[in-house]
Amino acid sequence: KNHVFIMAGGVGSRFWPKSRNNFPKQFIDILGVGKSLLQLTYERFLKLTDPDHIYIVTNKQYKNLVLDQLPGISEEQVITEPSRNNTAPCIAYATFKLAAQSPDANMVVAPSDHFILYEDIFLKNIQKGLDAANAAPYLVTLGITPTRPDTGYGYIRFEKTGTEGVHKVLQFTEKPVLEKAQEFLASREYVWNGGIFIWNVQTALAAFQQHAPEIYALFAKGRDVYNTAAEQEFIDYEYPKSPNISVDFAIMEKADNVYTIPADFGWSDLGTWASLYEVAEKKENRNVYSNNNLHLEETHESIIHLPPGKLGVIKGLKDFIIVDDKDVLLIYPKKDEQQIKKVTETLKLRD
Ligand code: GDD
Ligand code: MG
Repeated sequence: KNHVFIMAGGVGSRFWPKSRNNFPKQFIDILGVGKSLLQLTYERFLKLTDPDHIYIVTNKQYKNLVLDQLPGISEEQVITEPSRNNTAPCIAYATFKLAAQSPDANMVVAPSDHFILYEDIFLKNIQKGLDAANAAPYLVTLGITPTRPDTGYGYIRFEKTGTEGVHKVLQFTEKPVLEKAQEFLASREYVWNGGIFIWNVQTALAAFQQHAPEIYALFAKGRDVYNTAAEQEFIDYEYPKSPNISVDFAIMEKADNVYTIPADFGWSDLGTWASLYEVAEKKENRNVYSNNNLHLEETHESIIHLPPGKLGVIKGLKDFIIVDDKDVLLIYPKKDEQQIKKVTETLKLRD
């Protein structure tokens, strides 16, 4: 049986100030469709598997937010982390927990904050990945055709020949420096890691054991407590001691049984304002906004988010991000948007 784990514990700091620590991006209706990214992700996976095989992995801080937004999810389906240690421990925990209950299950680990335009193509490729992971000890990921030298992604070079669209990965480079990203893009031999992982529980455990032994050992200690009354106490005590590292650095860069399925399903990771700009509908002068109360002059290719009803008068900006959200006003060049994350860190914002 196939199990889906949706990771919803990130803070989405590059989407600040819309995304805040106490209300991150995945819980926001960032596309203006009446549903949060998490809700859209959950509904997408309902088309793949049973409702009781979908779990949300998140920080305990967001548990109630998850339960509020997803009435179809029970408390047992929300796996909570007591601290922020990035995706490697998050996935290790989920994998050990599932292994204790279904040792031969296949799993899909997915982000909660992506935009996917063509759901049918997406789901077909997930199914292809599940078939591959079921048949062989592969760590499968979906590969997206890159469009720009973005340094926020994993870059994957793969063997040209494959079976059923599943290709062996030759090199996985997580978040390269700009020069490398430019080189990878120009070579046309790379795809982006879509951030979705598909594998059998045993394949994942073996990968952790081999490439992230410290994380493996930490969670293996709890073998007998998963899905029992003693689990929470174990996790509260042990989880924060885990190394803080993403699964991409901990496992994917190192493993030699990584496979990719190159597939294009209208994907955007909505990681930054510019990536939202790319998928959003462009209005006159290629501006993106949803507010009707805007007076724009000589303003081009900007993304403008104001509270509903607020009058905005803007002149002379090109390629800007303009966000007025509660107590924060952000006016920032689109080209520098990767720095927004650093700004929020320097300002030491708490919410
Ligand atoms: N539960 C939990 N706990 N979830 C987390 C945590 C955590 O500590 N940290 C991050 N997440 C969630 C985020 O909410 C997001 O849904 C997902 O895990 C991925 O984390 P990001 O922080 O958004 O990763 P990234 O975008 O920098 O990079 C990853 O995704 C790219 C594609 O979007 C990598 O896998 C890249 O290789 C990939 O290209
Ligand atoms: Mg991301």
